[in-house]
Amino acid sequence: MREIVKGVASIGEGENQILICKAASDLSTLSADEQKFVQAQFEAKNDTVYLNRLNSHVFVYQIKEDDNGNKTLENARLASHGICKKLNALKQTSVTVSGNGNSALLYAFTEGFSLSNYQFLKYFSDADKRKNTVKDISIVGLSDTEITHLNAVISSTCIARDFVNEPLSYLTAEQYAHDMMDLGEELGFKVEVFNKSKIQALKMGGLLAVNLGSPNPPTFSILEWNPENATNEKPYVLVGKGVVYDTGGVSLKPTAMSMDYMKCDMGGSAAVVGAMAAIAQAKLPVRVVALIPATENRPGGNAYVPGDVIEMHNGMKVEVLNTDAEGRMIMADALSYARNYDPELVMDLATLTGSAARAIGDQAMISMGNAPQEVHDILVDAGNKTYERFAQFPFWDEYKDQLKSRVADITNLGGAEAGMITAGKFLEYFTQDTETKKGYPYIHIDIAGPAFNHAEKNYRGIEGTGVGVRSLFEFFKSVSA
Ligand code: BES
Ligand code: ZN
Ligand code: ZN
Repeated sequence: MREIVKGVASIGEGENQILICKAASDLSTLSADEQKFVQAQFEAKNDTVYLNRLNSHVFVYQIKEDDNGNKTLENARLASHGICKKLNALKQTSVTVSGNGNSALLYAFTEGFSLSNYQFLKYFSDADKRKNTVKDISIVGLSDTEITHLNAVISSTCIARDFVNEPLSYLTAEQYAHDMMDLGEELGFKVEVFNKSKIQALKMGGLLAVNLGSPNPPTFSILEWNPENATNEKPYVLVGKGVVYDTGGVSLKPTAMSMDYMKCDMGGSAAVVGAMAAIAQAKLPVRVVALIPATENRPGGNAYVPGDVIEMHNGMKVEVLNTDAEGRMIMADALSYARNYDPELVMDLATLTGSAARAIGDQAMISMGNAPQEVHDILVDAGNKTYERFAQFPFWDEYKDQLKSRVADITNLGGAEAGMITAGKFLEYFTQDTETKKGYPYIHIDIAGPAFNHAEKNYRGIEGTGVGVRSLFEFFKSVSA
């Protein structure tokens, strides 16, 4: 277990503190003068008040209620960001957060605070100097289980962020698989990695085709959390896009604001690995398998080219019309492989299309699928609670028309419109038996919008956001309860 926040019984004498309250009169630990000052600040619509006690620093956050309870929680996460910055600017090392009995709010606030404190400093020579001073975060008023869950999601979101933030110069497919094995060992889930020859033996034609231009081999990693007390018999299967770098291949991307941040193209798999890390750390009673196909997409001497026809893991033939639509090629093989597990449900996460990002920006992930609506609703609820929201898009079969090929079963390129949906419909083919067309319940999640921030954005940070970890964890808490 990675411990980031510590549960304590009470606030120590002379400690830095953050007090969460509805009204200044709730704050019995403040002097009468302090209460009066805080009261006046609240009246002036200042909902985070700073009290400088010289030897210690006190922050008071007045809960900003919204009719939407989930927004009330998000307000707390957002407010925590400024307080975290200020405590670091004051060069403080520790703080204790306490609330007035509202544990969901305390949880959300501390989650936001800890995520705000995240940094990726590995490649700075003066990392020591840049490092935030705040390192001890204590919390009064959460149960042991809540503390465990909080540590699980925070640390796992940071794990996902670290992976996204790592450039290709470190994170090749093999390195990624290696790091997953280390994580599995540390946190208690099982990891098996298929190397290139195993991938060839399995005839994962999509993954192999995308890998052709790369000097580094592909990997296919299988993560499993299989506790004795699992409440499900058939496993949930998560599939994550692990394109460790997407140049576009021969259909090369332009550099500025397009290729330059494509180290983020394994963000879907980072979310999936993060979710597994959180589930294992919290020891949730749910059986989950994660499949991670990983490779670079590059224009090398032997790279696949537009016009190529690729035979996929499920035997279907795909005409490649754009090598930059590589995510669906590698995900297709993993989704086909997922059929071996007779899954309860398969969810895939991928930075799959620019059209998803253009449609809704960074405010949500786009979800779609053929799973029963009640199941999809559990996911949407989990997204609303964590404010890693899902916007559900249609998944009508008519969109498949755009994938008709003149020479093969389907093409990997849809038309100019609804690109995020045609990508999803492409993937759906590989979830089904090619003869009977029967498949497992499926939800496709395109995270291209919120996976990566070009500028710092509140507690979600800069660069890799780790989006997906908190909402997936919440989903699995719901379905295993
Ligand atoms: N990795 C990209 C999608 C992407 C875009 C991720 C922006 C994160 C931010 C994906 O492989 C891609 O290039 N998709 C193409 C598909 C097209 C050729 C059908 C796209 O969206 O332009
Ligand atoms: Zn691409
Ligand atoms: Zn891509």
